[in-house]
Amino acid sequence: MALKHHADRLKAASLQDLSKARTDRPALDAPGWSVDLTRHYLDADTEAELAETAARKDLAGAIERLFDAAIVNPSEGRAALHWALRAPAPTHESTKAVRQTALDAEVLAEQIARGEKTSSAGKPFKAIVHIGIGGSDFGPRLIADAFHDKRHAGMELRYCANLDPLDLSLAVDGLDPAETLVVGVSKSFGTEETLYNLGRARTWLKASVGDGWAQHFVLVTANPPRAKAWLDGADGLILDLPETIGGRYSIWSAGSVACSIALKSDVMADFRQGAADMDAHVASAPLGENLAVRLALLDYWNSSFMGFGARALLAYSRRLRLLPAYLQQLEMESNGKSVGPDGEAVDLATTPLLWGGEGTIGQHSYHQWLHQSPTVMPAEFILAPGSREDTEGVTGLTAHALAQAEVLANGRTLDEVRAEEPELPMEIAAQKVHAGGRPSTLFQAPVLDAYRLGSLIALFEHRTYLAGVLWGVNSFDQWGVERGKTMAGRLKPALDGETTADDPVTAKLIAGIRTAH
Ligand code: F6P
Repeated sequence: MALKHHADRLKAASLQDLSKARTDRPALDAPGWSVDLTRHYLDADTEAELAETAARKDLAGAIERLFDAAIVNPSEGRAALHWALRAPAPTHESTKAVRQTALDAEVLAEQIARGEKTSSAGKPFKAIVHIGIGGSDFGPRLIADAFHDKRHAGMELRYCANLDPLDLSLAVDGLDPAETLVVGVSKSFGTEETLYNLGRARTWLKASVGDGWAQHFVLVTANPPRAKAWLDGADGLILDLPETIGGRYSIWSAGSVACSIALKSDVMADFRQGAADMDAHVASAPLGENLAVRLALLDYWNSSFMGFGARALLAYSRRLRLLPAYLQQLEMESNGKSVGPDGEAVDLATTPLLWGGEGTIGQHSYHQWLHQSPTVMPAEFILAPGSREDTEGVTGLTAHALAQAEVLANGRTLDEVRAEEPELPMEIAAQKVHAGGRPSTLFQAPVLDAYRLGSLIALFEHRTYLAGVLWGVNSFDQWGVERGKTMAGRLKPALDGETTADDPVTAKLIAGIRTAH
């Protein structure tokens, strides 16, 4: 394949020289963001070949099919309609009802925020505890953390996801059950962690408010019959999360109703607007200027041809400190696959390990590894201060992001070390060498606001879907998560001593745990 030949050639090239040759390339602009792709192992011939790949793999057609509500999730026979939840108006008959579910959630949120829907004691809710996991947690949690300072006065917003009993205890710590609303989000309404925590929350509420406990629940699910059964005849509120909304694509849905209640109303409105504007960009921009297409091609190139098995996402933005965790599910649960929808093995490395954290904090932790470990991987800088209230902080954050990208790419030779620090003994000078050659992308915005969070997440959704098309995997199912859950169900009786685990190592480990407790 031509791309393989380009990769063999460029792996031996100097990233600094390749980047210098691309310095005249303008950054790519899309709603709210400017993205610079200069520092990558690319040249004109390779980019032409990638553009050719985009045409051959019909990315334009893939974009059309997504926004045409076509079946893009063949293993489950579904469209992927997350974009309809933020569309300014219904685009298809089939998306009208989906879009309405988000509107219904906003109406309810407004009623609760205004105190028109109250607790069983007739009081306005003062605290919200969101219970969910995976796509029913990461998104709302990210929004709540990013815009913690935009909560309605006096409103508490907490999250609980883990089976570890401490998680719910911390989530309700100090809260008055009589003034607390529990939002339970589970598309399947069958997820063990969420049902466990909802059950404990119900006990907590029943002990305080008695028969009125169900008035303290809003359940968001694609399986209303299960939710109704859980309510056991009591009249709790149920909101719809359509089956055509994938869990990791559901941040726009009623699943984020806790944020709609707790945060000032412009946050979710701006958030959805940013995504809608990014949808318009992705749906209409020519492939070469289409940011989702360019990023998907870069992911395909870096992972499947340059052989970079990981990517570091460095959020130089306090509001985006949970973004790496959110994107891990979006990208790795979407494209962490090796078999295509036709059941055939995929013949390339697919999506890389995505990890990362908050900048500049990571510079005091794993950046040593990024700079001087033998492993080379792309870094992605998301530079968008949470506030511009102080120039010194904004300038410092910006300078560090730019400096890290430069040193990662250009390195520092032994000659440069010795020229700058001639007094150093040789063995120390050698340890100050940076190999460089670390590629990076810079996403840049003057400030991180709800509009830009929305446009960024929509961009990554489309990037993920299009990269999946390039790799030949279905980005919208997740068969790989089922086996572990099934196995856990089999091991519980072994942990209780009722059975013995089939696997000898697991059996030995269980015996040790049972002895220790
Ligand atoms: O991790 C598997 C998964 O199904 C995710 O795709 C999903 O977001 C999460 O578990 C929670 O599922 P549910 O919303 O059905 O509780």
